[in-house]
Amino acid sequence: MDTTETINIIDGKARALEVREALKIEVDKLKAEDKITPGLAVVLVGEDPASAVYVRNKSKACEKAGIESFKHTLSAETAEDELLALIDELNKDSRIDGILVQLPLPGHIDEDKVIEAITPEKDVDGFHPFNVGKLMTGKPVFESCTPLGIMDLIASTGIELKGKDAVVIGRSNIVGKPMAMMLLAEHATVTIVHSRTQNLPEKVRGADVIVAAVGIANFVKGDWVKEGAVVIDVGINRLDDGTLTGDVDFAEVSQKASAITPVPGGVGPMTIAMLLKNTVKSAKRRIAKK
Ligand code: GUN
Repeated sequence: MDTTETINIIDGKARALEVREALKIEVDKLKAEDKITPGLAVVLVGEDPASAVYVRNKSKACEKAGIESFKHTLSAETAEDELLALIDELNKDSRIDGILVQLPLPGHIDEDKVIEAITPEKDVDGFHPFNVGKLMTGKPVFESCTPLGIMDLIASTGIELKGKDAVVIGRSNIVGKPMAMMLLAEHATVTIVHSRTQNLPEKVRGADVIVAAVGIANFVKGDWVKEGAVVIDVGINRLDDGTLTGDVDFAEVSQKASAITPVPGGVGPMTIAMLLKNTVKSAKRRIAKK
């Protein structure tokens, strides 16, 4: 039986383009009416090739949306103080609405210290403890981009989250924890499972919504998934043969899910779209404060 017609693949690439086009219109309006150009500073420390690609993509996406990007590339040997001094400068720079320091940072730099040095007003990544706390208390300002993009994709499936069981696989500060808070804010019943969870597949089996963010290729199997579940795959794992694959065994799980994100072309493009959205939001907040 050919079941491919019944699989509902969530097209993150198409949705991200829609979001970016809508943002471009907003940016054009900000320029014309408020004489403001939203600005995003992107800081890359070191030569990690994957990070370099992400940063390039973020800068390019900014330019396409009419957002000015200020790129700072520092060597892997940059001292922590030097990076903190740059952040201080960017905090004070009135052309800049958002500051993004690409993670991970080299081992000699304290990541928490760097994140906390960014003023919460420009923390478009939503990583500062102030913004994490605002999300936790149900009054979010800037929210982490990957889970924010996932909420948009889940909404696009038409599923009503209220009262549904959601399982988040993974408990990172960037994805798992904020994801759980966002689902909770929409009245889902949320379970976070992780590497030390006992009987993990059993806990996933009850879920109406599954978000997989563990970083293990093809981790989630078909027989862990309830018929009709919505499945979101955050994983980007490179296999030995060079191909990219998610945390979900797509061939198996797509037979069970009512909707599923592919890798690539699912969650990934949404992260950048949400970064731009947060930057435009920050620019509007700047206008409101004038
Ligand atoms: N590294 C991996 N994902 C992210 C992200 O969303 N923001 C930043 N700053 N670094 C990352």
